[in-house]
Amino acid sequence: MDKKVRVSAPGKLMLFGEHAVVYGKPSIVTAVNQRLSLKATVLKDMVFELNAPEVEIINYEKNLVDLGQGVIPKGAKFIEIALMNFFKKNPVKYGVRIETSSEFKATFGFGSSSAATVCTIYALSKLFDINLTKEEIFKLSYKTVLDIQGVGSGFDLAAAIYGGTIFFVTGGKVIKPLPVKSTPLIVGYTGIKADTTTLVNKVNKKLQDNPKEVTGVFASIEHLVLLAQKAFEKADFEKIGELMNLNQSELERIDVSSKQLDNLISAARKAGAYGAKLSGAGGGDCMIALGDFSIRKNIERAIEDAGGQVLRVDVNAEGVKIEKS
Ligand code: PMV
Repeated sequence: MDKKVRVSAPGKLMLFGEHAVVYGKPSIVTAVNQRLSLKATVLKDMVFELNAPEVEIINYEKNLVDLGQGVIPKGAKFIEIALMNFFKKNPVKYGVRIETSSEFKATFGFGSSSAATVCTIYALSKLFDINLTKEEIFKLSYKTVLDIQGVGSGFDLAAAIYGGTIFFVTGGKVIKPLPVKSTPLIVGYTGIKADTTTLVNKVNKKLQDNPKEVTGVFASIEHLVLLAQKAFEKADFEKIGELMNLNQSELERIDVSSKQLDNLISAARKAGAYGAKLSGAGGGDCMIALGDFSIRKNIERAIEDAGGQVLRVDVNAEGVKIEKS
């Protein structure tokens, strides 16, 4: 028994609509060309083995009957629960060894947990010849994320599964590819790891305390996302930049930006970017800027001078796929 498969899924960046998307609003998300790879091998014993050195998991092992039980290390959680959910629906008489490696650091906020979840479910479906549609992969992955985090829109899973740049509504109610080709996006990493769940809970508390204002912010963000969708369809980058600035102002109103993010955003704008905003939950992770290719270097330098690390990525990457092993 040595059946194996290697798959990979892209990281993601939220372009528009974060936070509001947790409350039924739309968002725009893109897949980036840095990928997480996962090799899955069938084992004759009913055990789960995991090596994921990028998240400090070395020689982790568990009996399949114990999946989801006991203390699970952070780096193993998403893969273990994905495995458990998959096997609950599709019982098999074998075990599986999983090995992962990633082109991006788990601290960037590119969605390494989501990419790992999607890769696990996709790889298992291929290993055990169970045909799953993209919708089914999304459903099982989304259940896994909710089992672990309790909150989340699932946008990062959609990016990992479908790839490209997509218009996404909460829980995958709408997943529509946008006709986007090359986008002059610049990404600056603050060096600070943000905790998504903490920030989502903070916004929820604000919503309870001040429903009128926060609902108003969500409605404004929804409006901006719809305008951004049209601007993407026309590749009108100046307009997209302007909308990014407006989206950032709304995110500041719910207090999810940070000093470091604000510094990088302001540096990019001063260097001539069409617009800039945080990407994801806020509090740290990455900011994104849009600027003409001709002044890209200036914007990158400005971000670095303001203390950020420029991450060179292309958008619109391919979704989850099989790799040659
Ligand atoms: O922190 P990230 O990159 O996972 O982005 C979170 C985006 C939120 O809208 C705040 C949460 C979500 O699940 O959509």
